[in-house]
Amino acid sequence: MSEASAPDLELADVDKDFGGLNVVRGATFALSRGEFLSLLGPSGGGTTTTLSMIAGFEVPTRGEIRIRGRRVNELFPERRDIGMVFQNYALFPHMSVAENIVFGLRMRKVGAPERKARVEEAARLVKVDHLLERRPSKLSGGQQQRVALARALIVRPALLLLDEPFGALDRLLREELQVEVRLLLQRLKITTVFVTHDQEEALTMSDRVAVMSGGVIEQIASPQELYDRPATRFVAGFIGKSTIVEGSIDSATRRFISPTGTWQLPPTEAAAADGPASYAIRPEAVRLSPQPGTFANEVVGTAVQATFLGDHWSLFADCGGAARLLISLDRGGEIPAPGSPVRFGWNTQDAAVYQQERRL
Ligand SMILES: Nc1ncnc2c1ncn2[C@@H]1O[C@H](COP(=O)(O)OP(=O)(O)OP(=O)(O)O)[C@@H](O)[C@H]1O
Ligand SMILES: [Mg+2]
Repeated sequence: MSEASAPDLELADVDKDFGGLNVVRGATFALSRGEFLSLLGPSGGGTTTTLSMIAGFEVPTRGEIRIRGRRVNELFPERRDIGMVFQNYALFPHMSVAENIVFGLRMRKVGAPERKARVEEAARLVKVDHLLERRPSKLSGGQQQRVALARALIVRPALLLLDEPFGALDRLLREELQVEVRLLLQRLKITTVFVTHDQEEALTMSDRVAVMSGGVIEQIASPQELYDRPATRFVAGFIGKSTIVEGSIDSATRRFISPTGTWQLPPTEAAAADGPASYAIRPEAVRLSPQPGTFANEVVGTAVQATFLGDHWSLFADCGGAARLLISLDRGGEIPAPGSPVRFGWNTQDAAVYQQERRL
C-alpha cells in the first residue's frame, strides 16, 4: 500500500511478552486519518503496554506496527512522527510556556521565524497564547495540560498518543477539556490513541473504543455499538451497568433457566447449545410490571434500596437465586419502598445471552 492511502496506524497481530508472561495478545486494528480511538480496560489489562509499543518505548514480541504504511517496530520513538501527552504533563519547569511549546521544533532544527509563528499558532489553538512568558509552576492544572498538548501538536505529528492526560484534573475541568480537545483534534484531523480508565471519558471522546482485558482486545467498536451490543460477557459487565444472571440454556424450548427465573432467549443467528450461560439485562430495559404477564419475561422479588440520581432513580431488588436486579426508574413514576414486594419485566430483544463468554 502506498503511504498516502495507508491508514495512519495499523497493528497486525501484535503480542508483548514480559518474561514469558503474555501481556498483550493479538492486538489488531487500523486507524484512518483523524480517527480517535480509546484504549479502555481494568488495571493491568494491557492498555499502557499497547500505547508504549505504538510510541516506541517497548518493542513488540510478535506482529507488526505500521505508521502511515511504514513498519516502525524497531524505530526509536523520536523517529516515529508521534506527539505524546502524559497524565503528569511533564513540562520543563525551568522553561517558559513558549519555550516548552517550541521544544519539538528546536529538536527538528526549524528556523526562528517559522518557530515563532508556529508557537503562536499552537498556543492560540489551545488558548494559552496570553501565557507564553509564564513558568509552568504559575499555571493551573488545566492550563498546564493544554501547554503539553500544544507542545505535542506543534510538530504536526502523524499520530497523537495520550495516556490519561486528564487524570490529574478535577471533574469539571476534565469534562470541559474533553470536549475542547475533541473538537480541536477533529478540526485538525489528528489521528489519536487515548488511554483512559474513565469509561465516560472514553465514550464521550471516541470514534471507537477498544476494550482490553487480560491483554486481549475484547471488542473494538463505536461507543453506541459497545453499549447496545457488547460482544462478550466481560464487555457487558464493564461498559455501563447490567444485571448478569448465571444459568443454563435449554435449546429445545429456547429458554434460559436460572434460580431467578426462566426467560426467553433473544433472537440470534448463533446456535444456542445446551449448557451454562449468562443472561444480561440493562437497568433501563427493566420496567415495573403492573400485572403478571404484562411482559414476555418477568421476575418477582423484594425492593432493597432506591437511590435518587438526579434524572432518575436506581433501584436494587432481590429476585431469588443469587441475583440482585438493578432497575432504572423515571423520577416522576412510582418508587417501591424498601421491603415491599415488586414485579418487573422486560422485552426479550432487550436482553443479551452469553455462552462461553461470547454473545449469542
Ligand atoms: N516492564 C514490565 N515487565 C514486566 N511486566 C510488566 C511490565 N510492564 C507491564 N507489565 C505487566 O503487564 C501487565 C499490563 O500492564 P499495563 O501497564 O499495560 O497495564 P494497564 O492496562 O496500563 O494497567 P493500568 O490501568 O494499571 O495502568 C501488568 O500485569 C503489568 O504488571
Ligand atoms: Mg496504564
